[in-house]
Amino acid sequence: MSDRSRARRERLSTLVLGADDLVELVDRTGRDRLMDLMIERLRRRFDEHDPSTVLARKRDGFRYDKPALGLVEWMPTHELGGPVVVKMVGYHPTNPSQRALPSVIATTSMWDSESGHLVALADATLLTAVRTGAASAIATDVLAVDRPIRLGIVGLGAQAVTQLHAISRVRSISSVVAIDSDDDIARTFADRVAFTGIDIETAPPERADTIVGEVDVLCTCTSVDIGAGPVVGDTAPTPWLHVNAVGADFPGKLELPASLVEQAFVVPDVAEQCLVEGECQQVPALRHGPEIPDVVRHADRHAARRSELTVFDSTGWSVEDDVALRLAVELAGDYNLGTEFVIECLPPDPYDPYSSADSDHARDR
Ligand SMILES: NC(=O)c1ccc[n+]([C@@H]2O[C@H](COP(=O)([O-])OP(=O)(O)OC[C@H]3O[C@@H](n4cnc5c(N)ncnc54)[C@H](O)[C@@H]3O)[C@@H](O)[C@H]2O)c1
Repeated sequence: MSDRSRARRERLSTLVLGADDLVELVDRTGRDRLMDLMIERLRRRFDEHDPSTVLARKRDGFRYDKPALGLVEWMPTHELGGPVVVKMVGYHPTNPSQRALPSVIATTSMWDSESGHLVALADATLLTAVRTGAASAIATDVLAVDRPIRLGIVGLGAQAVTQLHAISRVRSISSVVAIDSDDDIARTFADRVAFTGIDIETAPPERADTIVGEVDVLCTCTSVDIGAGPVVGDTAPTPWLHVNAVGADFPGKLELPASLVEQAFVVPDVAEQCLVEGECQQVPALRHGPEIPDVVRHADRHAARRSELTVFDSTGWSVEDDVALRLAVELAGDYNLGTEFVIECLPPDPYDPYSSADSDHARDR
């Protein structure tokens, strides 16, 4: 069969993993196993990361204040010889209160770099939450004290659920202090994380003033407004405190006091991005530490940091989204989930855009 006649027979399809597929994927895999797999895959990618073969382009997008304050951004990655993956992510902090929707809504896509064909299209709202938790778990595992921990969480929305879940997979958690500026959201947190079996102490917002001196590990994952931070008090931190700073991901949006960041060993996910959007905005020039892949690769070299003040400046890295989509596609294959759609209009005659599979069939008959 000639190449052209083969092209006439084959209709390239795209694997679509929609909401129902993602829900079933979690059910079939199990929350713990899915999180463990995400942590394992992400840790391997951090460990093996080579910027000369994995190209992660700067994220960019549109930021606006009409019709609502928010942004839609693209986060592209290409592994040379492998697929191109692009996640589109929206952040609209008034979504939960005004539209009963998550603040973060995302979709992700994978292209074959041999032909340009769209291989997969999937929800990334759930995957983003899982991979963001997994990244904090890896940072915690490498940089936090290696014993049962007292965990603080400030900001109890969607990301808080997977922060707690992920960290519980790498450390035994002896107690949790959970704080949100919105009492209604704080009230539901224990139920949302009941599946972890961990007791939650929900504390009033004022407790954020002293939280850095009360816990071994702290996750900040708030939707604090630009210029409205920090979200925790500027008091003496526990000397070995490890912070996963997740919510600062926009110019001027900060969760930690400058003095805490200045004292800490700060590990950015992507330094260039963190200097513009993350807690690194507050770090004197070039004073931050190495990026997370380097710290994971040389975990032994950084072991002494476990007894020091450390901050993982997590702004979200496109490579994490590449890992998340590949894992979802793999699991969908295991469980036969998803729907194959023929999306692209690929004519049987590649030189004739108006030719269609149907007319070709008719001609053959
Ligand atoms: N680093 C990453 O990779 C990554 C990934 C996803 C989301 N994020 C960021 O994480 C943050 C949280 O996302 P989410 O999906 O959980 O949002 P969400 O809207 O579900 O939850 C945010 C919570 O923060 C609370 N909050 C706001 N200001 C506060 C304050 N000053 N003190 C205490 N609580 C406060 C809100 O009441 C809300 O409950 C956002 O800023 C988002 O952009 C980062």
